[in-house]
Amino acid sequence: MVSELRLYTEAEWLTQAQHYSAVLLSRGVQTCIETVEKLNARFLRLNPELALCVDAEGLWLCANGMKMQPDWKAEVGRLKRASLKSEMIARACNLSEKPSLIDATAGLGHDSLLMAHLGAQVTLLERHPILFTLLEDAKRQAADDPFLASVVARIQLVFTDSADYLRNCAAQGKVVDVVYLDPMFPQRDQHQQAQKKQAQVKKQMQLLHLLLPEDGEMDLGDHLLGLAQQIAKRVVVKRPRLAVFLAGQETTHQWQGDACRFDAYFQANLNNG
Ligand SMILES: C[S@@+](CC[C@H](N)C(=O)[O-])C[C@H]1O[C@@H](n2cnc3c(N)ncnc32)[C@H](O)[C@@H]1O
Repeated sequence: MVSELRLYTEAEWLTQAQHYSAVLLSRGVQTCIETVEKLNARFLRLNPELALCVDAEGLWLCANGMKMQPDWKAEVGRLKRASLKSEMIARACNLSEKPSLIDATAGLGHDSLLMAHLGAQVTLLERHPILFTLLEDAKRQAADDPFLASVVARIQLVFTDSADYLRNCAAQGKVVDVVYLDPMFPQRDQHQQAQKKQAQVKKQMQLLHLLLPEDGEMDLGDHLLGLAQQIAKRVVVKRPRLAVFLAGQETTHQWQGDACRFDAYFQANLNNG
């Protein structure tokens, strides 16, 4: 976990920067605010270390001359083109039934935004304090967008470790229609060939990988599958196309795409319950 980060801003956005800094501190992340004259591409190139910045568009993660935020508004075009028929994730998660769905690995929240757009009632879980704060900001901004407002009204964000959250649900006897899992997957692995076929990993994902632990200590989320199966009628796991099964647990229910696949696990006991 990052202990102290620089948070760059211009004088104009200092109050907002102080607000984000306080929110991050309440989540265990210490930031050091630095007011700079021009927070532009040149500045970011000259300051390539991992940091945060605040400008007119809110909070950003920056590194290596790039900056990123979940930017749900930029997803509107994709959402408008999406349909229950065209999206593999919609079939895997049975979104036509407007399910109650827990996305236990939020990341940038893009999968959940799509699933909420296609009808799911989403509880979105993220344990990383910086990512969670970025998501919160993305949701706040999306709520002001005429197209996204009704979509994000179906998304509830929770800052938690999913293992704890799922355990609590199980203890309370809670049942949901779907738990969706998309844990991190090592970039350099036995499936490198499949990775190479993809276009360059998106800028956003590059920065996400900088923020999260490196391969050696990466939590691959195997333990989440069994916990999810205790409370969900259907667990759907997103994997790179050729990746091993999560927790080594095979399934024959798969939806295969070019770059990724969705593995589904059905709990007959919960379906009948
Ligand atoms: C590959 S990203 C998910 C990407 C996401 N599907 C999207 O559309 O942007 C995985 C995310 O899950 C989060 N995560 C992994 N294990 C978790 C856990 N036990 N509890 C909460 N979040 C977790 C990581 O912090 C990371 O942000």
